[in-house]
Amino acid sequence: MAQGSIQDRWSTWLLQTRFAGDPERKRAFEEYLFPVRDRVLANADVQKGDVLLDIGAGDGLIAFGALPLVGAEGKVIFADLSQVLLDHARFLAEQMNLLDRVGFACLSADDLKGIPEASVDVVTTRSVLIYVPQKEETFREFYRVLKRGGRVSIFEPINRFSWPWLAGTYLGIDVQSIESTAAKLRTLYERLQPVEADPMLHFDERDLVRHAEQAGFSEVHLEYRVTIQPNKPSRWEHVLHSSGNPDIPTLREAIDQTLTLPEAELFEGYMRPRIEAGAGVLREAVAYLWATK
Ligand SMILES: C[S@@+](CC[C@H](N)C(=O)[O-])C[C@H]1O[C@@H](n2cnc3c(N)ncnc32)[C@H](O)[C@@H]1O
Repeated sequence: MAQGSIQDRWSTWLLQTRFAGDPERKRAFEEYLFPVRDRVLANADVQKGDVLLDIGAGDGLIAFGALPLVGAEGKVIFADLSQVLLDHARFLAEQMNLLDRVGFACLSADDLKGIPEASVDVVTTRSVLIYVPQKEETFREFYRVLKRGGRVSIFEPINRFSWPWLAGTYLGIDVQSIESTAAKLRTLYERLQPVEADPMLHFDERDLVRHAEQAGFSEVHLEYRVTIQPNKPSRWEHVLHSSGNPDIPTLREAIDQTLTLPEAELFEGYMRPRIEAGAGVLREAVAYLWATK
């Protein structure tokens, strides 16, 4: 974190809550993220000398990964809604002596003000569109700022595949014997993120293709990947103190808001050993989309 920065909800979540503040969990998550980053960049067909715009750059997963690919002649622009995260990325770039090869833009994905028309070779984005209500406008902006022949490369979770969770399950674990308690927690999260209205849930992979085509991209590819597999063992404290996104409470906070003390003890007593043993099933879907102007 850059010295002296004031936290905002995005930086707090991205740099802390998403990993429950635990470096070990951060490392485990990076094991998942690095291949995703490499895939997004490979789909973008990044060339030496390219100007690459990374939308919702966060702490720079994709943007820093792109720097060796664009080379000394190229440039990477970190764009994000959060000035705190941009300051953080600038601080990291300065530490790595990279300031002459990067730019920073504080903006929203659906309004790329300040980025001229046909000025970049590549637009990348990972897990950002899910937070943007105006997805159609966002694709139109990607198209506008790309040069002819420029590429966009996107990775997004398709949360509609797995949410709402199946009745009688919690985190993929069979909770039928404590269902009335578990249902209170599920209902809280379902109320906070209604499927038809929430930007994280109101779209699927076909909408991404439609938006890209309607924005004018001449060539569009999408790969949809579903994973259903046994959960991996996790530390209960990690699960308790992390949240899936900045708009929802951690499980600890949800328990405190929703359950009585005996219910909380019942829920934690049931879930903890199962989480730590890796019981239950993970269900997720993701989409990679890449397109050419
Ligand atoms: C899940 S993080 C992904 C960060 C980064 N792309 C990565 O791959 O690690 C989502 C990022 O999108 C940014 N963001 C959220 N809404 C945005 C918007 N409307 N426009 C631009 N960035 C946004 C957040 O500040 C955050 O940095």
